[in-house]
Amino acid sequence: MTAVLFVCLGNICRSPLAEAAFREASVRAGFAVSCDSAAARDWHTGNPPDRRSIAIARKHGVDISQQRARALVAADFERFSHIIGMDQSNLAAIHAMAPDSHDVSISLLLDHVPGREGEDLKDPWYGRAVDFQRTWADVTLAADMLVQKLLGESVT
Ligand code: 4NP
Repeated sequence: MTAVLFVCLGNICRSPLAEAAFREASVRAGFAVSCDSAAARDWHTGNPPDRRSIAIARKHGVDISQQRARALVAADFERFSHIIGMDQSNLAAIHAMAPDSHDVSISLLLDHVPGREGEDLKDPWYGRAVDFQRTWADVTLAADMLVQKLLGESVT
C-alpha cells in the first residue's frame, strides 16, 4: 500500500501545501493513497499551518486550516512507503532518523519533476505572498508528477 509523508523543517509552510496538493492530485486521478506531513524539528508541534500557507491554499480552493504540525518519528518508517523532503537539509534529517534497515523510498520533492532533480523547494518562511505563490506552483507541479509516477509503480 502506497503511503506518502512530506517533510519540511517546521511542518507549517511547505509540507502542509505539498500534502494538500498531493491529496488533491490523487483524488483527481482516482488513486487511493494515504498521505501526511511532518517536521524535521518539533518547534511548531500542534500548530496550524502558517497563515500565508492557509491563504494560498484557500485561494486555490483547498482548506488546510485543520492540519496540525507534528515531528517526524521513527515509526514513520513503518507507516509510510515514501518519505519526501522539501530540501537537502530535510533529506539529511530524514536519513538521520531512518532505522538501520527499512524499505522506505526517500527522495526530494523536486526529484519528481524532470529537469529539476536535486533542486530544493525554497523555504518561503522569510518571504512574502509571492514566495508562497511560487511554493504552491512548485508543489502542485511535483504532486501531479508524483501521482503519475506512483500510479505507474502500483500497476506493476
Ligand atoms: P517550513 O518553513 O519548514 O516550510 O514549515 C519554516 C517554518 C518555520 C521556521 C522555518 C521554516 N522557523 O524557523 O520556525
